[in-house]
Parts: sequence; C-alpha cells; structure tokens
Amino acid sequence: MDLQLKDKVALVTGGSKGIGRAVAERLAAEGADVLLVARGKEVLEKTAREVAKASGRRVEICATDLRSAQGCAAAVGALGQAFGRLDVLINNAGATQSGDFFQQDDAVWEDGFALKFYGYVRLSRALWPLLKAAQGSVVNVIGAASKTPNVNFMIGGAVNAACANFTKALAGLGLRDGVQVNALHPGPVVTDRLNALLDQRAKAEGLPRADYEKKELAASGMRAYSKPEEIAAAVAFLASPLSRQVHGADVFCDGGSTKTIL
Ligand SMILES: NC(=O)c1ccc[n+]([C@@H]2O[C@H](COP(=O)([O-])OP(=O)(O)OC[C@H]3O[C@@H](n4cnc5c(N)ncnc54)[C@H](OP(=O)(O)O)[C@@H]3O)[C@@H](O)[C@H]2O)c1
Repeated sequence: MDLQLKDKVALVTGGSKGIGRAVAERLAAEGADVLLVARGKEVLEKTAREVAKASGRRVEICATDLRSAQGCAAAVGALGQAFGRLDVLINNAGATQSGDFFQQDDAVWEDGFALKFYGYVRLSRALWPLLKAAQGSVVNVIGAASKTPNVNFMIGGAVNAACANFTKALAGLGLRDGVQVNALHPGPVVTDRLNALLDQRAKAEGLPRADYEKKELAASGMRAYSKPEEIAAAVAFLASPLSRQVHGADVFCDGGSTKTIL
C-alpha cells in the first residue's frame, strides 16, 4: 500500500531512539524527508546517518531540550532552516517517570508535564501555520495510561490524559484549517523507556525486575510487548493522506491491553 508520503516533510520529536526512531525509519522508507529532534547530538547523528542510508532520503537533526519554550523554538527554527515547510508533525518525545506517589515531588510532576504536555502544545501551536499551508497532519504519540490509571504511573497517566484532551480539541481546529489530528496510544513497547519504567515500578513495588515484568505482562493479557516498528506502522498510517477520514481519534495500538471502551 502506497501511503502517499513521498516527498513530504516530517518532524519527529524523540526521533533518535525507540518509537520515534522507528517512526522516522518508516516515514523515510515511505519517501518522506525527516527532521529528528532530541537532546543527545551523537545519537541523533548516528540515527540520521542510518535512516538516510537505508532510505536515500534527507534526514536532518536538531539537538534541543523540548522541556523549555526556547528548546521548542530551536526545533521550529531548525525546521525553517532545513526545509521551510512541514507536512507531518509527530509529537512523540516523552520521559515521564514512574514511581511511588509520595516520593515524587512537584519538580518531578513539572518535569513530566514540561516535556510531554507543554512540548506537544508548543510545537503544535508554532508549527500550525506550516501544517495548515500544507494541509498536513499531526500524530500525537501518547499512551494507553491516558485511560488506565496506575498507582505507580500517576504522572504519566495525568500527562497522557491531558495530551489526549488537547489532541481532541486540536482536532477541532484541524477541521477548520484542514489539518488532520489524531492520537496514537501505545501500550508497553520494548524501548529504553520501557526498560527504565519497569525498573522504577519493580523498585516501587519491592519486587525483582523479572518477577515484576512477568506480573505486569500477565495482568495486561498481552501476548507480548509491542515492537517499535509495530507502533511506527500505525503512526505512518495516521500521518498518511489515506487515513484522512480518521480525525480526532484515539487509536490504541496496545496489544489488547486496554479493556475499556470509553
Ligand atoms: N515505550 C513504551 O512502553 C511506551 C508506552 C506508551 C507510550 N509511550 C510514549 O511513546 C513516546 C516514546 O517513548 P519511547 O519508549 O520510544 O522512549 P525512548 O526510547 O526513551 O526515547 C525517547 C526519545 O525522546 C527523546 N527525549 C527525551 N527527553 C527529551 C527532551 N527533554 N527533549 C527532547 N527530546 C527528548 C530521547 O532522546 P534524548 O534522551 O537524547 O533527548 C529519545 O529520542 C513517549 O512519549 C512515551 O511516553 C511509550
């Protein structure tokens, strides 16, 4: 299936690793040029080299911290310099911490919202004129915890629920301006982030890591954790003109772990 992404320009936050990297690989394989945004320059450079080599597409980088307004402005500036246009915005960078509620002070909560909530808001707002001009698309990679609160993942759940609400409202503006907007909610995906989260949650519950992982997988009912490329395939479809009638949707790509309908 041709996703009709050839010669489109995409910006992927958190594009150096994990889900973001897999999304960048997939979009580039579909013929898009990509700007990868994350903090670590070396990993960005390595990923950009590898994605460009595999796809033959142009892959640029911007090393910036998206937790601040200045950091987001740097990403917007880099896009302007590198491409001067934008068809696809993938908001994906998130690093919300798991842990015991009573051990997480305001600074930890603020840090979680700074990157994943305000980062998504700021980039969507700043890049909207370009997306409107291109009649493009936004995919916000959020997370199944938006619907399923967890005592050991309160910040992530709250951030994700806020992002889901924001995405739905932004989709209303998208109807007006011709920009497709959707939320993609992964369940657990095998990335550095999942490894860190499982470590934090196992510690919060006082269980050995392997035992905790077994317990969580069994409780979810999933056959296996997702692979980044499985999430990337769903993101690429939502970024594609082919899915234009999917709008303002909360798409769950979670191996069936979410049991509710609302
Ligand atoms: N993996 C899962 O199980 C899972 C489940 C549900 C939802 N999600 C969501 O999916 C998204 C991607 O997760 P992942 O598992 O792929 O994470 P990951 O492997 O840890 O990758 C995170 C990416 O974000 C970048 N990043 C982190 N902090 C940043 C900052 N302050 N400014 C700019 N970039 C930053 C990282 O690069 P640097 O560290 O170099 O900045 C990296 O490129 C997140 O929003 C996460 O909440 C993941």
